[in-house]
Amino acid sequence: MILTDKIGRDVSYLRLSVTDRCNLRCVYCVTKDFKFIPHPEILRYEEMLRLIDLAATMNIKKLRLTGGEPFARRGFMGFVAEIMQRHEDMDLRITTNGTTIESLVPDLKKIGVKRLNISLDTLDRKTFEEVTGKDHLDDVLNTISACLSAGIKVKINAVAMKGVNDKELGSFINFAKENPLDMRFIEFMPMGDDTKSDNNFWSADEILEQGQQFANLIPVKRTPENRGPARMYTIEGGKGRLGLISPVSSHFCGTCNRLRITSDGHLRTCLFSDKTYRLRNILRNPALGDDFLLRVIAAATRDKPLGYHLLESRSGSEGVCETQMSAIGG
Ligand code: GTP
Ligand code: 5AD
Ligand code: SF4
Repeated sequence: MILTDKIGRDVSYLRLSVTDRCNLRCVYCVTKDFKFIPHPEILRYEEMLRLIDLAATMNIKKLRLTGGEPFARRGFMGFVAEIMQRHEDMDLRITTNGTTIESLVPDLKKIGVKRLNISLDTLDRKTFEEVTGKDHLDDVLNTISACLSAGIKVKINAVAMKGVNDKELGSFINFAKENPLDMRFIEFMPMGDDTKSDNNFWSADEILEQGQQFANLIPVKRTPENRGPARMYTIEGGKGRLGLISPVSSHFCGTCNRLRITSDGHLRTCLFSDKTYRLRNILRNPALGDDFLLRVIAAATRDKPLGYHLLESRSGSEGVCETQMSAIGG
């Protein structure tokens, strides 16, 4: 069975958040009055494995595990190993803050993990602490080096914030010049009232224009392999690339091929739509089998939204996603 929506977008990418917990408190992610989801509401690994097995029968070819911080959940390495064992053809990727996993890198490699996306908003120790609440810059840098040495491909995600990390653009471009990795800036997305801010919005176009002062940036052609949310640029004379993700200034909804499942088992067909489908209740109802789950997922996918209104929402409240990013997994 192939999952498609009503305008014919093939959906072949599932993002699964394994926990909403995290050891950091990034300013753009965690709102002041955030609450953790109670443990009994979080899907058990067996429940997630059932969903992944089912997804594999529905042409899901790429699976991203996110959080919160996925490695903060007990037993996560065993879960990853089990997925790799059951689905060796699945393109499995993990998004992490990279603060606690340097020593796990050889095991990740052994299990068969080939790619990690690592959050890193600044190369400055003090700014790192201001943004994340913790002094973990060196740990993240060590994890990145360990991955590159082990042959695990790395994409860095930096949330673009004027007045916070814009002065580091040259340093970031140098970092990508010296290291074979993708350095991606993501436009700041308003998630709930506390994280909403017009003052520090730094657009992808501004970053590109300013970036040209530091290096010759050459656009990478869109191919089936390069159809993700990031516009990519090679850096002349460098080993790595620069990427720009612009969910606010220019949408990529037309080519969106993804579904999301939150750690408490809600299926979301769009990052910014608060319409969710409660798979947990179905998973925990012994009277409802895989066929029923499959039909719900297929029907939800058919109804996948065609777009959203995030830009307008920056000056009002309409369209702001009220769910915390840490619960959805980005
Ligand atoms: P790759 O396939 O490796 O390129 O992964 P990715 O970029 O989809 O994953 P990652 O978890 O690193 O996400 C990077 C950023 O892009 C995060 O801030 C996400 O929230 C954002 N993002 C990913 N998918 C979407 C999407 O469908 N819509 C919007 N608006 N933003 C997205
Ligand atoms: N705006 C943009 N990106 C965000 N992320 C988390 N919250 C936001 C936000 N409000 C990013 C993190 C992480 C990725 C999964 O999502 O940097 O790398
Ligand atoms: Fe944790 Fe990622 Fe949220 Fe930062 S953005 S608090 S690292 S989940």
